[in-house]
Formats: sequence, C-alpha cells, structure tokens
Amino acid sequence: MSTYDLLNKDILARYLPADMLDKVIILQSVDSTQNEAKRLNCKPPYYVVAEQQTHGRGRYGRKWYSPEGGLWITFVPKLRWGFDRIHLYSFASVLSIYAVISEYGISSWIKWPNDIFVNDSKLCGILVESEAISSELKRIFLGIGLNVNNTFEDVGMPYKAVSMLHLLGKKVDRNLLLAKIIISLDRFYMNDDESIFQEYVKLCGTISKRVKFHIANKTIEGVAIGISSTGSLVVSSSTGIHTLAFGDVFEQELDVMSPDLA
Ligand code: BTN
Repeated sequence: MSTYDLLNKDILARYLPADMLDKVIILQSVDSTQNEAKRLNCKPPYYVVAEQQTHGRGRYGRKWYSPEGGLWITFVPKLRWGFDRIHLYSFASVLSIYAVISEYGISSWIKWPNDIFVNDSKLCGILVESEAISSELKRIFLGIGLNVNNTFEDVGMPYKAVSMLHLLGKKVDRNLLLAKIIISLDRFYMNDDESIFQEYVKLCGTISKRVKFHIANKTIEGVAIGISSTGSLVVSSSTGIHTLAFGDVFEQELDVMSPDLA
C-alpha cells in the first residue's frame, strides 16, 4: 500500500477542524479497536481507528476479518442516552454511515438493526458494546466496520460481503472518507431523538420484508411491520405479533436461517 493510502493525521487535517482531529487516534495494528477504546482513558468523544485488527469481532462473537484497506473504527461518543434509549446510538451511527456512502453514489439499504447492505451483500456492520456501573451506562463503544479498499477471506459468514472498491471500480481515499464519517457522526448525534428515529424508520429496508428468525428453538416466519419506540423489530406472523429486541433476521427469499438470538 502506498503512503498516500495509509491513514494519516496530516492528510486528515486537510478535511477536519483541529478540535475533531485531536479526538482521532490512528493505530497501525491492534487486537480490536473496541478493546483499545476501552483501555484508553480519554474523555469522550474519541475515535480509535486501525489499519488492521488481529482480533476484530462482530456481533454474536463472530470474527470480523479486518485486513488493511478497510475502515475499522470505534467511536466513543459523549453520553447522551441511557440504557432505555440505547438503540438511538446505534441508529444515529448507521444513519451517519449510510449518508456518507450515499454521497459516493452507492445505493444501499439499512438492515435492522444496524447493517448496511448493497443488494444481498454486506458493506458495513456495527457492533455496540457498553460499560456500566450499577446498571448505569458509563461508556458506549460503537464499532464500525466498513469495507472500503479491502479484500475478503471466507470466514464462514452467513452473508456475502462487498467493498466500496468493488462497487465503484476504483480505490477510495480513506482519509477523506474517514473525515466525512467523523463529520457525519458528529452531525447525526446533534439531531433530536424523534428525527433520528423517524429517519431510521424511513430508511430501514427490513420493514415490509418477509423475515425468518429463531426464538426459543422455534423458527418464526412473518412480515416485519415496523420498529418499536425502543428500537425493536416488530414482526407479524400467523402466531401473532413478535417484538425482537436484538438478533439477526433474514429475508426469506435469501433462504438463510437465522444463526441465533443469544
Ligand atoms: C457486525 O457483526 O456486523 C459488526 C461488525 C463490527 C466490526 C467493527 S471493526 C471496528 C470495531 N472493532 C471490532 O473488533 N469490531 C468493530
């Protein structure tokens, strides 16, 4: 990879104001930006970004393959909501990334709760982790994995993956992209709760789709009919209305079973 391709604070400085730039920590290699963000004792907001992760992780303990060329970011925002509205951190994050990807002319959709897909291939995933003391939220870690100029390895994911390089047919300037993402995250976190929620509902492509998921050892098939005020997916099936607080659902036409809801 040429020097130009590496993440670099001098280049980022062309695109970000100094106060934002100060909040960005760039690492060559790390186990996981989530772990590093937890180890650091910085005042939020801050962003930990790595060229590569040796132990990147996804949701449900899945491995997140993180070679050079992608954007592997952990964003630790200033606390704004407690556990009762924790879904708003995730919704604001996915909306921020969606907006930036759209600027590149990529037509994507948001898959509940916080994935970005292009057709049936995953472009971006978000991992939300938190630290609490006596059930009070203390820090939240929004781990963003965006496939940019990277290649893939088959690590047994239950979905296909795609990169911006593949979609656009050319390499993307990751410093500019990172700056756009940071500015977008900052902007979306300033929006009020209702507009984050409404924008998410408008863009969530899972709504109206036929979905299939596992719950208590049963497979339920139905239609996703909406998002509850706490961020759950509401599914209507022949056995009634189900509210999924977390988990993965799969469109029936993709014919892939849900892994778990653990
Ligand atoms: C998912 O399963 O879809 C979530 C993937 C999240 C991956 C990102 S990459 C940056 C951060 N560090 C990690 O170890 N994981 C998240």
